[in-house]
Amino acid sequence: MTEPHLFVIHGATGDLSRRKLLPSMYRIMAEAGITDQSILLGVSSKDLDDDDYRDFARKSLADAGVDDYEPWCDERVYFQRIERGAEDLSPLADKIAAIEARHQLPGNRIFYLALPPTAFPRMITGLSDAGLNESPGWTRLVIEKPFGRDLASAHELNELVHSHFDETQVYRIDHYLGKETVRNLLAFRFANMLFESNWNRDRVDAIEINVAESLGIGSRAAYYDGAGVVRDMLQNHLTQLLALVAMEAPNSFEAEAIRDAKVQLLEAVRDIDLDELTLGQYGPGEADGVPVPGYRDEPDVPGDSTTPTYISVRIDVDNWRWEGVPFYLRTGKRMPAKSSQIVVRFRPPPICVFHGKRDKCAQHQNVIRLILQPNEGFDVHFDVKSPGDSLQLVEKKLRFTYADEFDRLPDAYQTLIFDIMQGDQTLFVRADEVEASWRLFDPVIAAAGSGHPLDNYEAGTWGPPRRHTPIQWAEGPIRGETLTSPQAAIPQTTPPDHEGR
Ligand code: BG6
Repeated sequence: MTEPHLFVIHGATGDLSRRKLLPSMYRIMAEAGITDQSILLGVSSKDLDDDDYRDFARKSLADAGVDDYEPWCDERVYFQRIERGAEDLSPLADKIAAIEARHQLPGNRIFYLALPPTAFPRMITGLSDAGLNESPGWTRLVIEKPFGRDLASAHELNELVHSHFDETQVYRIDHYLGKETVRNLLAFRFANMLFESNWNRDRVDAIEINVAESLGIGSRAAYYDGAGVVRDMLQNHLTQLLALVAMEAPNSFEAEAIRDAKVQLLEAVRDIDLDELTLGQYGPGEADGVPVPGYRDEPDVPGDSTTPTYISVRIDVDNWRWEGVPFYLRTGKRMPAKSSQIVVRFRPPPICVFHGKRDKCAQHQNVIRLILQPNEGFDVHFDVKSPGDSLQLVEKKLRFTYADEFDRLPDAYQTLIFDIMQGDQTLFVRADEVEASWRLFDPVIAAAGSGHPLDNYEAGTWGPPRRHTPIQWAEGPIRGETLTSPQAAIPQTTPPDHEGR
């Protein structure tokens, strides 16, 4: 049940607020018929008043294709200016008191920090100094990623948060956890004996987690050049996918049980072998047939930047279930397509009963592909004998897609904002979890900053050849639409020249 509350967005005139937060928030209320339960207070350094911000909200909702938003914008949207760098948030506290009195709210408050990470500490301290870390009702603090820049800074930020807020009040956002297909990972694994009983070292040969993006960094150089692919994608989104695909069954479907199981998994990850690490940066190339600049020629990127936009890394999990099974995590910008998939490759049969026919009937590995986006769903690849006298094995697949079976998938932010309103922390990253994931990647960040080879790849390609030691995969790429290019699917026996740009 959603209780009446005040939703305060810091960074209320930013891109995230306009494109995601306002439309998601409004859709939740409209779908649940509770537009009278949530009052929005936008906060930013822009010189606006309530009416100006109502115009901003109307435009955001109109652009998102939302209907009937006028009454809510007219009556339930407010704005408070806080100058950049200001430490005194008492004007905000006064405005909140006035709005709550006017709408007879019980003092339930959400503070959503849609701000650059450098602004988090000042804002968290400011809220506390103004007495806004507690209220007559409940208070929830929502923090966007990236949470810290490495283990030390994440730990420091956790300590600061905990000196003003209790962990039960804190919602660290990773929007991948709100994607329907990511949430379905737990259902897929733990509601289906068929899959879960084979989800271990006895059956699985290797698991790939691939997140390819076709876009470059656009106008985000100010953030991205200081972050790079490890902080932007690997430490958070891909690590969450790893945790969900590899964790043990939680004792219950409660937030703490699920988060405990994820932390336990992350703590079992072995130190990453840097010889297996491939870093890349996109050069000029093509996207959809149109020439696009290389990373160093993007607006505001220094011409000699060594920020990686691609990574491929091998992860080993030292526990009973996964000992000896490599996980390959790979993500990059400016690839030929936007595609996120988890590919589970099963071991080949222990002996080949088709002796003497091997040349004609290659045995393929069974594969389960969990397709997170686009064409969400999954497929299972298996061998069949093609009809006729001779024994010819061909690979076929069974496919499930959400589009065939269900209506529209909810937007990730809509799911997450709904959970924040309900007070459900299951899909949010706990303090120890965020530190456990930074612990994995600190050595990778250090290597990237101290001369680890940075391979150039042409925009519009699948990235540089990977440096992994060869894996004995029975057959190369899975047929059909797949992220995996032939060259990348079968790791190179001879590592390519380690040339930077
Ligand atoms: C964001 C990153 O967190 O996730 C972006 O900052 C990236 O660089 C985006 O493009 C990818 O999200 P999605 O939902 O489009 O896969």
